[in-house]
Amino acid sequence: MFKLNENYLKLPGSYLFSTIGKKVNAYASAHPDKKIIRLGIGDVTQPLAPAIIQAMHGAVDEMGRAETFRGYAPDLGYEFLRNAIAENDYKARGCDVSADEIFVSDGAKCDSGNIQEIFSLDNKIAVCDPVYPVYVDSNVMAGRTGVYDDVSGTWSDVIYMPCTEENGFAPELPSQTPDLIYLCFPNNPTGATIYKEQLQEWVDYANRTGAVIIYDAAYEAYISEEDVPHSIYECRGARSCAIELRSFSKNAGFTGVRLGFTVVPKELKCGDVALHSLWARRHGTKYNGAPYIVQRAGEAVYSAEGSVQLKEQVAYYMNNAHYILKGLREAGYTVSGGVNAPYIWLKAPDGMSSWEFFDYLLEHANVVGTPGSGFGPSGETYFRLTAFGSYENTVEAVDRIRAL
Ligand code: MLT
Repeated sequence: MFKLNENYLKLPGSYLFSTIGKKVNAYASAHPDKKIIRLGIGDVTQPLAPAIIQAMHGAVDEMGRAETFRGYAPDLGYEFLRNAIAENDYKARGCDVSADEIFVSDGAKCDSGNIQEIFSLDNKIAVCDPVYPVYVDSNVMAGRTGVYDDVSGTWSDVIYMPCTEENGFAPELPSQTPDLIYLCFPNNPTGATIYKEQLQEWVDYANRTGAVIIYDAAYEAYISEEDVPHSIYECRGARSCAIELRSFSKNAGFTGVRLGFTVVPKELKCGDVALHSLWARRHGTKYNGAPYIVQRAGEAVYSAEGSVQLKEQVAYYMNNAHYILKGLREAGYTVSGGVNAPYIWLKAPDGMSSWEFFDYLLEHANVVGTPGSGFGPSGETYFRLTAFGSYENTVEAVDRIRAL
């Protein structure tokens, strides 16, 4: 008789964005006349940039001719894309990352969930609180997180690093020593970020204690301030302690196209074993490569026209972010984020809990956001709005909230 992976049964509730989706769909069916504005999940709304569409059309035509047709993609990604990434995302920023340390995938969500597989179940993870739920849930599924406490909303074997208004939403070095440290900057969900010297402290700490940092830089394209690192490899010593996850979803609107990559430097070792070889083995065994058409689209992100068009797209979303920040601040809300990230983090008014505010906004303004408590206990009483809507919807949503 088969048995289940009982770790799955330990997961409380359903995936955050599925729960929100269900609630919103139920409300929409009960109120078909209402125009609901969705600023919940961080999903892009602008069409793909013309340079990307052109590259995809070209690749589709290649797939239609015998002499240019491609079958399975190389497991680790086509060289044309890995070279473009190494050149533009790393060498141009003075980071020492070579093309053969880049593993192309179908997105950072999968990589951030899968990366834990190459580590022992005995490893202790540390996460920011609040946190992107995938890091914790994938470790729960693997059986690395201990027992869940319903009251505190925490796992017994996870080290939580509270990110609160008091510490500027930047985690402090934990008192208990972790083996794996998940960091995401610019941060999802708080929209906060840290400066290069703060990140350098984390890198020094990881090298000192023998920990690995799993650094999620999915939102780096939204950085507007100087001295905010775009990559952890801008820090000295990161090659021996850090894995970096990147996505094309937010910088190029690929949430529906699917493309991302993970960097595993060859110097990152456990004894004599390079993590690079383990991740290569995992990728080779379980993955058949992102589609050729999509990888050509990814290459176009770095073309002269592509980069100009995408800067405009990022500026469009950041204009929304500024509108939300300014509008809600004027209306008396306590707001942060939205400067180096497309997320605005606000305090629910009048002592409401995160979910109370979610229900209140849905009901009275027909606006959907994400309850902060869905990202962890320190997110309670907070609420996240995304800047990824259209400008018109963003303005209308802010106006409706202001009118409450
Ligand atoms: C979010 O809303 O937090 C993100 O869009 C989720 C994701 O990128 O998977």
